[in-house]
Amino acid sequence: MTIKVTPIQNDFVADISGVDLHHISDQTFEIIFQAWLKFGVVRLRAQNINEDVLQTFSARFGPLEEIPFGRMSEAAKAKVKNRFVTQLSNIVVDGKPIGGLGNAEASWHSDMTYVSAPPPASLLLGIEIPETGGDTYFADQYAAFAALPAALKLRIADLTIKHNAAHTSIGSLRPGFEPFDDPRQAPGTVHPIIRRHEETGRQALYLGRREWAYVPGLSLADSEALLDELWHYATRPERVWRQTWQPFDLIIWDNRRVLHRRDDFDPNSRRLMKRCQVLAHA
Ligand code: SIN
Repeated sequence: MTIKVTPIQNDFVADISGVDLHHISDQTFEIIFQAWLKFGVVRLRAQNINEDVLQTFSARFGPLEEIPFGRMSEAAKAKVKNRFVTQLSNIVVDGKPIGGLGNAEASWHSDMTYVSAPPPASLLLGIEIPETGGDTYFADQYAAFAALPAALKLRIADLTIKHNAAHTSIGSLRPGFEPFDDPRQAPGTVHPIIRRHEETGRQALYLGRREWAYVPGLSLADSEALLDELWHYATRPERVWRQTWQPFDLIIWDNRRVLHRRDDFDPNSRRLMKRCQVLAHA
């Protein structure tokens, strides 16, 4: 098998073929890793792998984030074989959802920006895919930053955004958080609006999520207007790539460079995805 990297949108998104993740050398991993840094999103098709293989491959990118155990008992936790593989799904077994997000639309976001050191890489493997719906979209934030007018770049140079921790990307309140109706009250972490990528040195817009975001130091009205203006650049169609899933597609994206969102889908169809997230270096 010869590994091949095929760009899809100039320097944004690439397909990688000629790889079987069951058997992967250090040299092959290095090609995948460098492609991920260069293109921000890479897709490997036909990777019919189990959770062990997904977890082992993902851990090559760095230590992994544990799945959210919530209120699970210690005994139940001990039975979880792969502590770093989360399921996203609308499938319900014995009255309980087997994964997160259900069939809902997820709005534009970058993963876990509400913590101080969000995961750089996310890996998402499609297992069961509905006939229609559930497509995932990625928006290139190097290109979004480059497209900003010079005056706007100057204006945001020293500004930050407070990234709301209380709601998920489908708008539901996370356990343990109280509702509020003013973005200034949202609990969360502050990050600079312009992010210099730690590994490539390139600058990207780093917006997190539009809902409940706030630019500290501005009036609410000014914060809302500025965020609306920035989001207009962030998600222009020419900077967006759409993934229509096939079973066993694996997508790896760089949260420092891309935003993503997904469409909703028919609740009567089945969608099952497995995800690993890589911890940021301390
Ligand atoms: C997400 O990470 O927001 C979900 C992506 C998906 O289910 O396609």
